[in-house]
Amino acid sequence: MRKLLIAGNWKMNNGPEETKQLLSGIKKQLEGQHLDVEVLVCPTFISLAAANESLRDQNQVQLGAQNMHFVDSGAYTGEISGIMLKESGCRYVILGHSERRQYFGETDEGVNTKALKALQVGLRPIICVGETLDERKSDSHFEVVSRQIKGAFKELPDTQLNEVVVAYEPVWAIGTGETATPDQAQEMHKFIRNELANLYNEQKAANIRILYGGSMKPDNAEELLSQPDVDGGLIGGASLKAQSFAAIISTAQTIASK
Ligand code: PGA
Repeated sequence: MRKLLIAGNWKMNNGPEETKQLLSGIKKQLEGQHLDVEVLVCPTFISLAAANESLRDQNQVQLGAQNMHFVDSGAYTGEISGIMLKESGCRYVILGHSERRQYFGETDEGVNTKALKALQVGLRPIICVGETLDERKSDSHFEVVSRQIKGAFKELPDTQLNEVVVAYEPVWAIGTGETATPDQAQEMHKFIRNELANLYNEQKAANIRILYGGSMKPDNAEELLSQPDVDGGLIGGASLKAQSFAAIISTAQTIASK
């Protein structure tokens, strides 16, 4: 049984002070609730310490980062390693987000190296995949996502697959207000699960969570999260307000408790 994961990707928003405020708002919204879903926030590196401090007195919200380097330490000016993230309280790390691929030249091979390291240091990688609008229009979206999955999962130890999360984020739906239809999301999620079954086996693929990302909001969360192969959301814009993030969590909780 896959536990739904609702993850907030804060991107380059919220310094330490704003982080404390937003987390205090989120905690207030979730106060007293029993959750059968996992909740995660991924602030920017500089706000991780503040977030870790704010989350110390509770166990509903976990902490993650938005990127990491692929070695533990060394001469890599400006970089942050997985063990540093662990020490800062992170349980998850987002890898290969399309913005990192688009603006910082990240490749499938690089994502793979980082995913291997994340698992080695005890972080759960959230591996992002997804096609651009041109790729969807030219009908190459399955081919693109297949290549991204095969590249990112290369030699990932099958004993640790339960720790790995995939996020399908069609680039044309990120921050645009345009969402994949529930059918489009389900179709691609099922395809990804099949690809994983081909790489490993059906049972292992059935345990890997596949999140949807791209303009998920309180008013479309239910139809997306109800799809059989959609195991949660990676949420940008709507995770920056306590109320909308909590509303999506509550939708997920309703689905999980059915
Ligand atoms: P969005 O971002 O929800 O603002 O579209 C999602 C993401 O990029 O992870």
